[in-house]
Amino acid sequence: MTNAELTSSDFAAIAAIMQSDARISLSAGKMTLVQSRLAKRLRQHGLAQFRDYVAMVQSDETERASMVVALTTNHTHFFREVHHFDHFRKVVLPELKQRAAKGHPIRIWSAGCSSGEEVYSITMCLLGPDRASASWVRHADIRLLATDLSPPVVEATRRAVYDAATVRPIPAEYRSTWMRQEGEDYVMVDEARALVTAKVLNLFEPWPLRQLYDVIFCRNVMIYFDEEAKAELEERFVDQLAPAGHLYIGHSERLIGVSATKMRSSGQTIYAKIEGRS
Ligand SMILES: C[S@@+](CC[C@H](N)C(=O)[O-])C[C@H]1O[C@@H](n2cnc3c(N)ncnc32)[C@H](O)[C@@H]1O
Repeated sequence: MTNAELTSSDFAAIAAIMQSDARISLSAGKMTLVQSRLAKRLRQHGLAQFRDYVAMVQSDETERASMVVALTTNHTHFFREVHHFDHFRKVVLPELKQRAAKGHPIRIWSAGCSSGEEVYSITMCLLGPDRASASWVRHADIRLLATDLSPPVVEATRRAVYDAATVRPIPAEYRSTWMRQEGEDYVMVDEARALVTAKVLNLFEPWPLRQLYDVIFCRNVMIYFDEEAKAELEERFVDQLAPAGHLYIGHSERLIGVSATKMRSSGQTIYAKIEGRS
């Protein structure tokens, strides 16, 4: 760790960039975290003072983007908040199968996907416990989109390689069917990986989405945003959902603003779009 001191004016300048570029709010309590996360970047650039690093990010777009990435929190795990996946299997999956049987495309989005554990947990629920249970997927038009602001985690989602400790929460039958072991690691099989497209996307930029989505997971992402940003984003998610589509949010999050009036509760931090409203 560098000995460089982060002054409150350096911190204010960094917090302003996080707010304008990613709408992430950094409270004063995050000063130590910011100092320790950015210490490596100061060292890499041979800088002794945060003041010099702040001057750098204010003029260098590439370093500015790297700083935003360094200050995002990517904690995630497979089958996190397992009640969401129980609900997905029991309530949403039968609806999706019915829609697919009628020839409708199925679109699912993991927004703020981190390293892919969320989107592959959903993928394994779609495919089911064995190869036979996946036959409906093979006959349907199903795509899962996984997006994140941070290029390294998007790349990790594309690679879909996880170590033994990371795959531990995956139910055994899913793991043995949809992952193969390579040395010490586990890799999602091609059939699962081929359903997922991973892309870098800042949620506060325009979304290049041509279709409405049946299901959106945006969990443990909005906790980093201020109330205005949350309300704006939630409204955009609701607009992006197909009628009766489902939205899953994190355990400490809630719907605020106008989106709360367009959605009904379908379980703990799970919402279904009220049909007929856009
Ligand atoms: C704590 S992880 C949550 C991962 C996963 N959804 C879960 O619940 O396990 C939060 C993710 O949101 C991403 N993120 C933060 N701000 C973002 C923004 N403005 N646009 C897109 N992604 C963002 C971060 O890069 C990080 O990977």
